[in-house]
Amino acid sequence: MNRDLGINLCRVTEAAALGSAKFLGQGRKNESDNIAVDQMRSMFSYLGINGKVVIGEGEIDEAPMLYIGEHIGDPKASDQVDIAVDPIDGTTSLSNGTSNSISVIAVAPKGCLLNAPDVYMNKIAAGPEAKGKIDINKPVKENIENVAKALGKKVGDVTVSVLNRDRHKDLVKEIRQAGARISMVEDGDVLTAIATCLSNGKIDLIMGVGGAPEGVIAAAALKCLGGDFQGMFAPSDYKQVKRCLKMGVDFDKVYTIDDLVEGDDVIFAATGITDGTLLKGVSYMNKNMASTESLLLRLPSGTIRYIDSVHKLDQKLDQK
Ligand code: FBP
Repeated sequence: MNRDLGINLCRVTEAAALGSAKFLGQGRKNESDNIAVDQMRSMFSYLGINGKVVIGEGEIDEAPMLYIGEHIGDPKASDQVDIAVDPIDGTTSLSNGTSNSISVIAVAPKGCLLNAPDVYMNKIAAGPEAKGKIDINKPVKENIENVAKALGKKVGDVTVSVLNRDRHKDLVKEIRQAGARISMVEDGDVLTAIATCLSNGKIDLIMGVGGAPEGVIAAAALKCLGGDFQGMFAPSDYKQVKRCLKMGVDFDKVYTIDDLVEGDDVIFAATGITDGTLLKGVSYMNKNMASTESLLLRLPSGTIRYIDSVHKLDQKLDQK
């Protein structure tokens, strides 16, 4: 893929973040999501790609834009790509005015991103030193001990990030019994998965059940960062089972990072909406300006870019 695509993907997530961050703490989930989708969708026309949404806002009958299967960009463009988007990962956080909400996108050559249904996925992820040392089918204690060893840390210094959900009661008990630390988050397991590679030991491991689409997006970032990720589909009701069957996923299979994201070319971009573990959220400043912080990753070069931008919103509006 054209390496310059990265900076343009960053523009896409910046636009979604700038639009939606206005709703910080407003309790207006739908409005914030609509504007993020709208902003993201409108930026795609500038990208010069021939893309298909494989992870998006839902199926065609549920989402008017960025639905799974939607063709984006220029059908004549030579870069044929799969697109995975989450205009807001952490809609509830944004709505409540809490941390870890981001706008995110991953792009890979056509056929390389798993077309995951919007169901739950059991996940485990760790950073580069622990690559090959995690196994979703092994007991929690064993995974923690193996990661501790790989990181050269005591088990008691290993921090596992878990989504704060009732379904994780047993998992939390097992992590406590193993003797590791727990960082509980309300929302946003894409960011916590990335933090296993970039937080300097604040988060070493993520475990537990979250969204499968977020799993593919996190896997794209971790692949760029040399980390490891495994996921197993975990449909929670009959509707989710039907979605899995329709999309042909295997419930018994452990999806490795290379099953979720094939090949050696991926670009990943994320922009903070609310302040979080790795990225600052949007700040609105005087003179109708706003600042954003984004993370841009590209697998072929391995470059990790943090992009701080100041946006003159009047001029952006003038360009439309
Ligand atoms: P949304 O912003 O799409 O709601 O996702 C936030 C999130 O916390 C994801 O990061 C996570 O994978 C998923 O929700 C977990 O689902 P649930 O909130 O149903 O437990």
